Amino acid sequence: MRVLILPDAAAAADRVAGLIAARLRADPAVVLGLATGGTMEAVYARLIAAHRAGQASFAQATSFNLDEYVGLAPDHACSYWRYMREHLFSQVDMRAEAAHLPRGDAPDPEAEADRYEAAIAAAGDIGLQLLGLGANGHIGFNEPTSSLSSLTRIKTLTRSTRDANARFFDRAEDVPRLAITMGIGTILRAREVLLLAYGAGKADAAAAMIEGALSAACPASALQLHRKVTVVLDEAAAAKLTLRDYFDCVHPGGRDAEI
Ligand code: F6R
Repeated sequence: MRVLILPDAAAAADRVAGLIAARLRADPAVVLGLATGGTMEAVYARLIAAHRAGQASFAQATSFNLDEYVGLAPDHACSYWRYMREHLFSQVDMRAEAAHLPRGDAPDPEAEADRYEAAIAAAGDIGLQLLGLGANGHIGFNEPTSSLSSLTRIKTLTRSTRDANARFFDRAEDVPRLAITMGIGTILRAREVLLLAYGAGKADAAAAMIEGALSAACPASALQLHRKVTVVLDEAAAAKLTLRDYFDCVHPGGRDAEI
């Protein structure tokens, strides 16, 4: 696991957006795995700026988002479809037919989850998977105790996740109880993973993910099994790492190692 610690949230988002833009230039037809949530807003704003500056094109890329709330149609104000349209797709050259999210309003959500998993596999799996981190250690909506080899399926959201996401809804009780999410096994098939977390609220989860035991109690710890993971943190999210000296020695200031 490559752990890059940047001085603040803005520098961390710069770093992640820079890595994605570089990947789009090197591999324009990359299959991207995308995330939503507050953390990613800064990343997508930077990717839009890079696109406008001619430094990133999505024209040949394909994308699959991690998750969607069960019951929300793509045009619902709080759906992740809507989030992606507003924060990225409508402002870059992504082809509409190449951008995929699960249909939250599918009549049979379990069948929709199976269809989505099959579509990811048919696309050759994810090339670069972008992840945020839940304060409880979730990735996607794989809540604690999720199977570490799970595939796309329906998950019940924890109270803490619904509380954390209530800020996006008019009323806390409007946050759906269920989501369709890529599984941890789906995520682990990605060729490369890039996780971004910032703020003190993520410090416990970041330490458990990087230095804790491999355990379904912290779903993000499953990334310890992956061969190519980059974790980008700000100082606040890195505050509970005990191996901090080592990470600073290998990647001083979050820079790449000089070999
Ligand atoms: C979003 C997702 C979640 C979020 C996580 C962090 O598609 O799958 O795992 O990345 O809940 O959310 P924020 O960034 O709002 O703290």
